[in-house]
Amino acid sequence: MGAFVVCLSLIVAFFLSFFFLPTALRYAGEILGYSLRRSCRTRRELLLARVATEQKSYEAQREKGKLGDSDDWEDIEGSTVGSSVNGGKAPKEWDGIVGFFHPFCNAGGGGERVLWAAIRATQRRWPEAVCVVYTGDHDADKAQILKRVKERFNIHLHPPTVHFLYLTTRHYVLSSTWPRFTLLGQSLGSLILAYDAFSLLVPDIFIDTMGYAFALALSSWFFPRVPTAAYVHYPTISTDMLESLNTGGQGINAGTGEGARGALKKKYWHLFARLYSAVGSTIDVVMTNSSWTQAHIKSLWGPYRNRRNKTTTHDIDVVFPPVAVEDVTKAVLLSPASEKDRGPYLLYIAQFRPEKNHQLILEAFASFLHSHPTFPAYPSQPPKLVLIGSVRDSDDATRVYNLRLLAHELKIKDSVDFVCDASWPQMLSWMRRASVGVNGMWNEHFGIGVVEYQAAGLISVVNDSGGPKLDIVTEVDGKPTGFHASTAQEYAEGFRKALGLKSDEMLKWRQRARRSADRFTERGFAGRWVRNMEILIELQIARAKK
Ligand SMILES: *[C@@H]1O[C@H](CO)[C@@H](O)[C@H](O)[C@H]1NC(C)=O
Ligand SMILES: *[C@@H]1O[C@H](CO)[C@@H](O)[C@H](O)[C@H]1NC(C)=O
Ligand SMILES: *[C@@H]1O[C@H](CO)[C@@H](O)[C@H](O)[C@H]1NC(C)=O
Repeated sequence: MGAFVVCLSLIVAFFLSFFFLPTALRYAGEILGYSLRRSCRTRRELLLARVATEQKSYEAQREKGKLGDSDDWEDIEGSTVGSSVNGGKAPKEWDGIVGFFHPFCNAGGGGERVLWAAIRATQRRWPEAVCVVYTGDHDADKAQILKRVKERFNIHLHPPTVHFLYLTTRHYVLSSTWPRFTLLGQSLGSLILAYDAFSLLVPDIFIDTMGYAFALALSSWFFPRVPTAAYVHYPTISTDMLESLNTGGQGINAGTGEGARGALKKKYWHLFARLYSAVGSTIDVVMTNSSWTQAHIKSLWGPYRNRRNKTTTHDIDVVFPPVAVEDVTKAVLLSPASEKDRGPYLLYIAQFRPEKNHQLILEAFASFLHSHPTFPAYPSQPPKLVLIGSVRDSDDATRVYNLRLLAHELKIKDSVDFVCDASWPQMLSWMRRASVGVNGMWNEHFGIGVVEYQAAGLISVVNDSGGPKLDIVTEVDGKPTGFHASTAQEYAEGFRKALGLKSDEMLKWRQRARRSADRFTERGFAGRWVRNMEILIELQIARAKK
């Protein structure tokens, strides 16, 4: 109870400091930070000692040959990332502690893949650095977590320099703890959790990979010299959400902004958005997982960050999360010889869901076929549209049935293949044989499927919106990798252009597409991650000298 009161008063002081920012409060933060740092000094020394012993025994084991060849630790040098951008101010020998705030690190989702890939990239570039993960997963010890990372993501971490510190207050960030005012409640909860983290260990660089921006702000209040970074998957509150409260808006909160209650809710959300923006302006380095998220974060945090001069040194960077692109590139060859296996086939891999817009794609394909196109690369083969998707329930099955009917009506039945619940090898086999990849969804945030098309060397024809437009089907060396379309006619035109390419030209498009997919590999991720880490380390070194 006592601790809770302390935390609460801290939180109040923390918010006051945002709005009034009197020097007194700033110093109060620093004093608190100082005492936290002092009280965990012993733990820090113990941790570093443990790292040293583990490193030694790891090397001893390695010499005895107990660790198999699967260990790629020696490849660090050869890997990806190149040298420091500005003359080695982030030296390879940097040996500080990087704290990763990720209370649910054992969850095994996409967010966790980013965390582990980030740690691996950091370990490779700065072998002396120690990565510490603050987690609330008490049921898993280090060995278990690392094993799971290996099995689930095929990411091999170097055990001696990664450690876990266990938080006891994770329930404060669960939405069930805050049935009302959930956004604010969870953010306050993350402050308590961050306090918990700092009382375990104060890191030299503090990084949040789960969207707890408030925790970062608390860090910069307590420890102004510790650089902070956020990897944002999704904004906690978005401009879309705020707009959706107004009448005529869309989504679950549509129109709830009316009446007295609604007015209050609107006030609360706007207030929260301001708070979130103020918090965002304290963060030194911001990365987002896509252009979509970047645009939202920029519109919220941008003005506040400008005021604090955060954008003058480095802007908000897009660091795409790693996708298993290599699974495709290894399985699908790309050479003049492999071109012989391909035909004038259009591939659309997507679940049979309404928003995937299969209907429009069928109409586009019909219009394309009826225009009697010619294919210099495939003189004698008839074109085909192949729809691959999973059928999860009877609704999906009905949709497939209706799509078949539509194909019949459009008189293209014999040129359309439906492949339901295809296995991965089956999909790969189609990626080898097809020529074009299609995506009909509007405003898809990302589109892993389109990345897979590119990895397979398919020329993409995608809706002129969302991630496929902004992030994926973009130019390589100033030349296109696919086509953007919004109407059935434009799609048909895209198909005509793609399949109308001459053989040698077509191969060049395919090679560009594959190069484009490289940005989404683990290698691509590591390169961009390290670039941002370099900024953090340079800041850390500069501030420590002050
Ligand atoms: C970014 O994160 C959000 C939330 O997890 C996810 O919906 C989106 O697909 C991610 N974007 C990319 C490029 O992975
Ligand atoms: C931001 O930078 C400008 C010039 O680069 C400077 O005049 C101003 O004082 C800075 N503001 C803050 C808050 O540091
Ligand atoms: C593409 O997106 C637009 C909205 O920008 C939508 O109206 C259209 O139906 C979509 N086209 C196809 C073929 O999916």
